[in-house]
Amino acid sequence: MESDALVIFGITGDLARKMTFRALYRLEKRGKLDCPIIGVGRRSDWGHETMRQRAHESIVDRLGEIDEAVFSRLAARMRFVAGNFDEQSTYEAVTEELSQYERPIFYLEVPPVLFSPIIHHLHRAGLTEKGRFIIEKPFGHDLASARALQADLTEYLDEDQILRIDHYLGKEPVMDITYLRFANAILEPVWNRDNVAYVQMTMAESFGVEDRGRFYEGVGAIRDVVQNHMLQVLALIAIEPPSENQHDSIRAKKLELFQSMSAVDPAHCVRGQYVGYRDIPEVADDSQVETYAALQLGIDNWRWAGVPFYMRTGKYLPVKHTEVRIVFKRPPDVGIGDGHKPGHNQMVIRIDPEPGARMRFIAKAAGEDVFEPADLDVLFEKEPGTEPEPYERLLDDAIHGRFDLFTNADAIEETWRIVQPLLDNPPEIDFYEKGSWGPEEADRLVKGVCEWNSPWRPVERPAERMVLGG
Ligand code: BG6
Repeated sequence: MESDALVIFGITGDLARKMTFRALYRLEKRGKLDCPIIGVGRRSDWGHETMRQRAHESIVDRLGEIDEAVFSRLAARMRFVAGNFDEQSTYEAVTEELSQYERPIFYLEVPPVLFSPIIHHLHRAGLTEKGRFIIEKPFGHDLASARALQADLTEYLDEDQILRIDHYLGKEPVMDITYLRFANAILEPVWNRDNVAYVQMTMAESFGVEDRGRFYEGVGAIRDVVQNHMLQVLALIAIEPPSENQHDSIRAKKLELFQSMSAVDPAHCVRGQYVGYRDIPEVADDSQVETYAALQLGIDNWRWAGVPFYMRTGKYLPVKHTEVRIVFKRPPDVGIGDGHKPGHNQMVIRIDPEPGARMRFIAKAAGEDVFEPADLDVLFEKEPGTEPEPYERLLDDAIHGRFDLFTNADAIEETWRIVQPLLDNPPEIDFYEKGSWGPEEADRLVKGVCEWNSPWRPVERPAERMVLGG
C-alpha cells in the first residue's frame, strides 16, 4: 500500500543535507513524488522557508545545478515542524500536519537511541497504527543489542511496518547481480561447488576515517561494512533461485542462506589498522579498532559446502573498488599449452567503479602454443549518471509500498550471529601502510588456495558498451 505523507525526523541533520534533499529532488524530477514532505527537527529558529532554503542549498551543493521549476514543485510539498523529540507537543504538531492523511511513512534520520522514544511518542499520538517506519543502520552493535532493539521496536510496531535501509541494496549494480544470475540460464549449472573453486570479494576504499573518528572508534570495519553491505552482496551471489510463487522470495532466500552460514572462526580473520589512524581526533592512542578486515566464510549447504568465500575490506587501500570474483576450477591437463596448465575461468562482477561483468576465458596466445587469458567485458550502465541513486530508489520504494530491498529483522540477527565471534574474540591488529593492500598477514588467510586477485580496473578508454541480452 502506498503512503500518502512522508515525515522526516532529523531533517536538520547531516544525512538530510548530504542525501535526502537530493534524493527527493531527483524523485520530483522524475515525477515520482505525490505526497507532502513534513520535516521535523529541533531547530526552533527554523520554519517552512528555512527548510526549503536548506533543501535548495544542499541540492545545489551536491548536484552543482538545479532546475528551479522542479525545485518549486518540491518546495511546495515541504513543511517544517520544530520541536524536541522528547516532548509530546512536537507529536501533537505532527498530528495536526497529518490531519488529512491516513497512511504516513516516518523516516527516522536520527541516532538509533532515539528510535524507540520517537516511536513511543508517535504511539501516544495515535500515529503508529497505520504508519510505516524507515530506519538506518546501525541496527545494534552486536547480536544481543540487535535483539534488544528489535524488542523495543516491536513493542508498538509490527515487523512489516519497519523498513531497514542498507544503501548497498539500492545500488543498481548490486541489483544487477540478481539479473545476471537468474536471467542467464547458462550460469546456473556452473554456479556451485562442483565448478567453483573459491569466491573473493573486495570492497576497497582509497580514503581514511578522516573526521569520523568518534563514530568509527565505536564500530570498525567489521561492524561498519562486513556485517551489512558485504554480507548482503555475498548473499545475492550465493542464494538459491527465487521463486515466482513464493511471497517475498528474494528476502526469504537470503535468510535461508544466512542461516546456512557458520559463524566466522577468529582464526580465519585478519584485522588491520592503517598507520596514522590513531592520530585522528577522538581516536584512542592505543586504539584496537580495525580499519581493514579480511575473512573466510563458509556456506554449509548443498550448493556451496567446501567452497571458501573470502572477503576483504579496508580504508586507505590503493583504490576505491568493489567487486566479487567467482573463480572456477581449472580444467584437467589434455596435452596442449606446451606443458603448462591453463588458468582459472573467472567471472568478475564489478560494483564500483563502472559497474559491469567480466568473463575470463583462457585462449591461445597468437603464434605460440601457450595459454593466454582472454576477457569478455560487459558494462552495465547504459548512460552513466542517469540511473536512480540508492537513496532515491529506496525512498521511492518505501513510499510506494515495495519492500524487497529492505532488510528484515531475522536477516539482521543472522548477520550479527555470523560475525559475533570476531567481536567476542577479535584477532590482534596488524598494521599496514596507507595506500597498500593491507597487512601481509591477509595472504596467510588464502594461502594454499589462491592469492588475492588484483581488481579488474576500468580501462582509460571504456570497452564497447553492451547490454546483457541485447
Ligand atoms: C557506509 C560506511 O555504510 O558505507 C562507510 O559507514 C563506508 O564507512 C560507506 O565508506 C561505503 O559506501 P559506498 O556507497 O561509498 O561504497
